[in-house]
Amino acid sequence: MPTLLPRPAHQEFTDGEFELTRDSALSTHPDLAQPAQRLQERLRAATGFLLPLEVSEEASDTSLAIRLDLDPALAAEGFELETTPRAVRIAAATDRGAHWAAQALLQLFPAAVNRRSPAPGIRWTAPATRVADAPKFPWRGAMLDVVRHFAPTRDVLRFIDLLAMHRLNTLHLHLTDDQGWRVEIARYPRLTEVGGWRPETQLGAAHGSDTDGRPHGGFYTQDDIREIVAYAGARGITVVPEIELPGHAQAAVAAYPELGVGDSAPTTPWTLWGINPVIFNVEESTIGFLCDVLDEVIDLFPSEYICIGGDECPKIQWVEDERTQERMRELGLHDEEELQSWFVSRIGQHLASRGRKLLGWDEILEGGLADGATVLSWRGRVGALTAARSGNDVVACPEDTVYLDYRESDLPSEPIPTGTVTTVEKAYSFDPVPAELDAEQATHVLGGQANLWTEHIDSMRGLDYRAFPRLSAVAEALWTTGDRDYEEFAPRLAEHLARLDAAGVEYRHADGPRPWQERPGVSGRTRSVEEAAAHLARITANIG
Ligand code: ACM
Repeated sequence: MPTLLPRPAHQEFTDGEFELTRDSALSTHPDLAQPAQRLQERLRAATGFLLPLEVSEEASDTSLAIRLDLDPALAAEGFELETTPRAVRIAAATDRGAHWAAQALLQLFPAAVNRRSPAPGIRWTAPATRVADAPKFPWRGAMLDVVRHFAPTRDVLRFIDLLAMHRLNTLHLHLTDDQGWRVEIARYPRLTEVGGWRPETQLGAAHGSDTDGRPHGGFYTQDDIREIVAYAGARGITVVPEIELPGHAQAAVAAYPELGVGDSAPTTPWTLWGINPVIFNVEESTIGFLCDVLDEVIDLFPSEYICIGGDECPKIQWVEDERTQERMRELGLHDEEELQSWFVSRIGQHLASRGRKLLGWDEILEGGLADGATVLSWRGRVGALTAARSGNDVVACPEDTVYLDYRESDLPSEPIPTGTVTTVEKAYSFDPVPAELDAEQATHVLGGQANLWTEHIDSMRGLDYRAFPRLSAVAEALWTTGDRDYEEFAPRLAEHLARLDAAGVEYRHADGPRPWQERPGVSGRTRSVEEAAAHLARITANIG
């Protein structure tokens, strides 16, 4: 009997099975036409059956049909799914609910239903069952860094399909950083002409490693972005863009040196990894530039939240620059932390004037938090606690649990091992809500996301290896209400791997990387448990 992943709130099995055949049909309420079309496409790809799709308020004939009905009484992303020997019925209040019901239905069929080309000789049966389900958190996401290594549009679309398969509803795209600028901005073409390309790239994780001597780059045109946003939207997924400020700015400063501090702007994006001193200056013209950029970003991304980064902004350039110190006095600010807070608040005011909400990494708490800002809490749980206690919303993504670029074991064969060991079991233990919060404060935790930084992920094959199956575990942690037990999860995950296989996902096997997944000869930054604890203490101390 196939099991569901994420585990549903309620499921009971009844007698018999539903069999999908060439003669089956699809029927949907007009408001759920989009999820019905997606289901039609998925079934056609794997089975070769093109089910006729009827769009009508009431189904004309429900026998041998999969019917999607609107039920406004259900939770926003909740659904009911019933399969019987005669028919399948899905009920949902929203498109999203129906998308997730369709994903659950697909999991009831043989795993080959995840193929992208027809699988011959399979009886497409699903057991008779009744499922009632709804997600625990409204924010269930993954962040993909498309800067450190650019992912072509088709790869982003493929990743969106994999998020949808796991009922994750948010793709956070990290679009700008020191090493590149990846989104076309019509008003400032040099951002991608100059900022989109770096001459070479550091190999390995430690400074002092070799560089590869090869140019790397790429960017999304505005049409590419519209395609990505529309593709995601048609699968129940919101794309949240991130434009980094005031740090992680080298690519932008290389493109437009007048944005930098002093007159020693770099001429190319950074070729190394790590934290970079090049940051934006605090002139009115630079705030104006960023607002212009954000205006184009807002026009491209319907997301309620716009991420402005805010992390890892060394203040050394501001400290040493006479003009910046003068500006601080002009603004009546006492230190560089207040200056960063002022900077972020100015951007927040602009976003608010355009009807959007500011999202930023937890460093935006330093020097005072912008009103209404939502915090991505990555340095342990301190950011989540501080923000939720002050009435700000939180998306949890603690680096010790859900940084999926971190190594999965201490095996010497792990490809470019970075960070601390983050096993599937550890990822499964993810709970976005710190136990210290009371019930009211806990309502500020919108949910969580896994982060995939791509310094050492230079292809979709590498991304598959890092993301899966840990992201499958995170998806359940964010969806499933009630107690979770890894022992209960593990066999369902084993079954789920067959679905990933059918979808062509080159996930990590439990016993370690396959030979073609290793990256021998490239040494990484490996941390012992003690080093990791010291690292966490250092970064959390910054919040105070
Ligand atoms: C981060 O990992 N620098 C947000």
